[in-house]
Parts: sequence; structure tokens; C-alpha cells
Amino acid sequence: MAELIVRGSNPLFGEVSIGGRKNSALAVIPATMLASGTSTLSNLPAISDIATYSSILQHFGATVQKPCNSTMRIDTSNISPGKSPPLKLVKTIRASYYVLGALLGRCGYARVGLPGGCDIGQRLIDQHLKGFRALGAEITIEHGEVVVEASRLEGAHIYLDVASVGATINIVLAAVLARGTTVIENTAREPHIADVASCLNSMGARVVGAGTDTIKIHGVEELHPTKHAIIPDEIEAATYAIAGAVTGGDVTLLNVVPKHMDAAIAKLREAGIAVDENGDSIRVACRSRPKAVGVKTLPYPGFPTDAMPPMMVLLSVANGTSVVSEGIFENRFNHVDEMQRFGASIRVEGRTAVIEGVDHLYGTSVQAENLRAGAALLILGLAARGTTTISCIEHVDRGYEHFEEKMREIGADVSRAREEDESWENDHIPTDGEGTRRMVNAYSNRFDDQV
Ligand code: EPZ
Repeated sequence: MAELIVRGSNPLFGEVSIGGRKNSALAVIPATMLASGTSTLSNLPAISDIATYSSILQHFGATVQKPCNSTMRIDTSNISPGKSPPLKLVKTIRASYYVLGALLGRCGYARVGLPGGCDIGQRLIDQHLKGFRALGAEITIEHGEVVVEASRLEGAHIYLDVASVGATINIVLAAVLARGTTVIENTAREPHIADVASCLNSMGARVVGAGTDTIKIHGVEELHPTKHAIIPDEIEAATYAIAGAVTGGDVTLLNVVPKHMDAAIAKLREAGIAVDENGDSIRVACRSRPKAVGVKTLPYPGFPTDAMPPMMVLLSVANGTSVVSEGIFENRFNHVDEMQRFGASIRVEGRTAVIEGVDHLYGTSVQAENLRAGAALLILGLAARGTTTISCIEHVDRGYEHFEEKMREIGADVSRAREEDESWENDHIPTDGEGTRRMVNAYSNRFDDQV
């Protein structure tokens, strides 16, 4: 297991360049399978989930080249739905479910293992399947795999019971090549849904209303390859903003879309943090002890659930008592036990956490349980007195590119204890199929029990 060693209490100062949004990239990559030919994606984050998806696409016959860390060329001329990818790959990430919508749309058939991902709740896919059925697909679940098939998809009117990000995107992927018009109501409005729609429309699709609660898709006969740049990752940006604030620092985040961060920016300002927006950058400075605030996570444009674990770190040293309510997932406080090892004072009751701000946190040894919880542990280590060791840091590598390098650039004292066979930890995501398979196997072996 790889681990990070963090020595705390340095205020962070300087500039951080924010990468492409993980959750957009993990939808746009499978979306390229809807067309035959070579698409070029840029501003991809250098994270292990991208390598995992690259391996999944190669399993279906795509050819993937990475001329540089943030660009991927995907040739989907010889895509075949064939047999399901290895469960080890599929269980590592939740976004593997987008293969269903993309291959159902392109080939009329898809078979993939039930998805994995962070253990923050049930992670159902019933709304995805509801949409596929409405479009005319037959669905079977056998041996832990979902099989979807349809001779021809027909446009439908679909009302989502839950404003699900994944279901919204997956149904759009299936509908773009369906016969007729599809209307999806009660859709999620996260910024990357509009990014995926923009990519699809650049391929010749006709998707209207992405980013609102109703999306209309006029089916077309065929799509063509494209070139697309992924939008910035507002969750990565919020993570660095909070790290700067909790250390009493002054950091500037470059390559961001402030509008996508409205809820997080408003909450930081409410806590007394200075946030200045300036085009595609924001400056975050903390000049006094943060104030306690209430946080409720909601679908966009509400406060993002993925920024909640880092935000709890800021509240753990705020002046006063804060209340955090998790409005999306059933089990998203599984990082609280580890927070308490630093001396944080938190009481969890169901989907609500009550946080009494403390004067100081103290370094300790902890284990990352999932992606955003792992990021929160690093921020705790930065805020704490003394040294912190964080194990299972592979969870963080799934979604934060060059995490320790970017943190060191703004003054953090953080280093990685490398394992002998983890050459891919040198931040060089392999571009060849064998290298990728080796890296992903090395990574996914750690989480065989990952749900
Ligand atoms: C996506 O997960 C993101 N993952 C999550 O980010 C993010 O937290 C979440 O959206 C909310 O913004 C990816 O994009 C890969 P949902 P997803 O479908 O698609 C219920 C991260 O750290 N639901 O909007 O799984 C579900 O159980 C990750 O980057 C159903 O009931 O989110 C959950 O309670 C963590 N039926 C709620 O909806 C369904 O068919 C929201 O889920 C689908 C979802």
C-alpha cells in the first residue's frame, strides 16, 4: 500500500493549476464509442480512473493513445460489445456503468458487471435501467452483470424518480442514436452534464437543455468522431481552496469556472474566508479563525457532496458549532472516525454531523476509506500539529492528479512512501496496453473487496 507522510501547520501560499473534471472525463471517454473513428480528448486529469477506463475501452476493441498526460486519442472503429470487461476493472470505478448507455446506443447490446466505486451508500442504478427500458431495451441481471439489448431504440418520455447524475448521462448516451425524440425530466444539473452534451453535440448529436431539469434528445442516424476539452474540476478546486483556508494561507486557483463553484464559494465566504473571483481564477485567503456554519449537501447548484468531507475539516477547527447534513448518500460520514484520531470533535446521527470546532488538531496515523475522505485526511494533516501518515492513498490517486506535487508547490510538507513495484506512482500513467493493464491490476488488486 502506498502512503503519504504529511508534516502540518505550514500556511499554504501560491498558485495551483486545476485539472480536468474527473466525473466529466469518465463520461466523455465512453461517449466516444457512439461514433466510429478517432476522437481526441484534452484537459484530461492524470488520475488512475482514467487509466482504468482506457483499459475498459481497449477491452471492447478501442485503440487508445496518450500523446501526453492530459490528451487521449481513442479509435473506436472496431468496437464490439462482445463479452464483459474483467470485474476487477469494473469494480474499481462507478462510472463503468456508462458503457451500458454508449454500447446500447451504438451496438444495441452491452454487458458489464454491476459498478463499484466509493462505499458511500447503496449506489443504485435502477433509474439508469428505467430509462433504458423506456427506450425499448430488454434488461437482464445475471451473474452480477447487467445485460441490455434492443433491436432499435425508440425515443420516450422519461421522468427520473431521483435527479441522478449517472442516470441522466447514461440515458442521454443511449438516446442520441434512438429513433425519434426523447424527453428526460427531473434530470441532474451538474456542470459536467452540459459538458458531456456539448461533446455529443460536437459529434452530431442533438441534445438540448443539459444543465436544466429537462433534457430533450432528437435522435440522429449516426455520429462522427470529435475533439473535445474537458471542463475544469470544481471539486478539485474546492479541495485546494479549503486546504489553503484551513492552514491560514493565501492560494490562487487557476483554470477554474467560478460559476461552477458558487455554492462552495458562498459557504467559504459565510465562514469568513476571503474569496476573490477573477475570470478563470479565484484567490482564497484566511486571515482569522473560520466561523462555524451550517452545510447541507444537495444536487447542483446546491453544496456539492464531494466537497463535504474537505469542508468538514475546515469546520473541525472553526470557532463554534457547525451542523452538516448529507442530502445525497446514505453513508458519507465514514471518514469521521479517522477525523476523530486528529482530535476533531464530531457527533454523527444518521445523515447529520454536529462538529464542535477545536483549537488544535494533532498528527496521527490514518487510512483513506475512499476518494474524497482521503483528500480530507491530507487536509487534516496539513492543519494538524506534528506528523500524519495516511495509508491506502490509492483511493486519492483515483481522482486527484499529482496530489502531493501540487500541494508541495504551495508549501505543503508532504511526501509519498513508494512501494517497489508501483512505477506508475511516478505519475507516469502508462500509454501502452500492457503498462496500463499492469498498473490497473496493481491498483485494483488492493480493492478486491471494494464494493
Ligand atoms: C456521481 O455519482 C459522481 N460519480 C459522484 O462523485 C457524485 O458524488 C454524485 O454523482 C453526486 O454528484 C461519478 O460521476 C462517477 P447519483 P452517481 O446517481 O452517478 C441515488 C466522486 O467522489 N440513485 O447522482 O452514483 C443514489 O443511490 C464521486 O467523484 C438511485 O437511487 O450519483 C444516490 O443516493 C462520489 N438510483 C443518489 O441517487 C439510481 O439509478 C445520487 O446518485 C441512481 C442513483
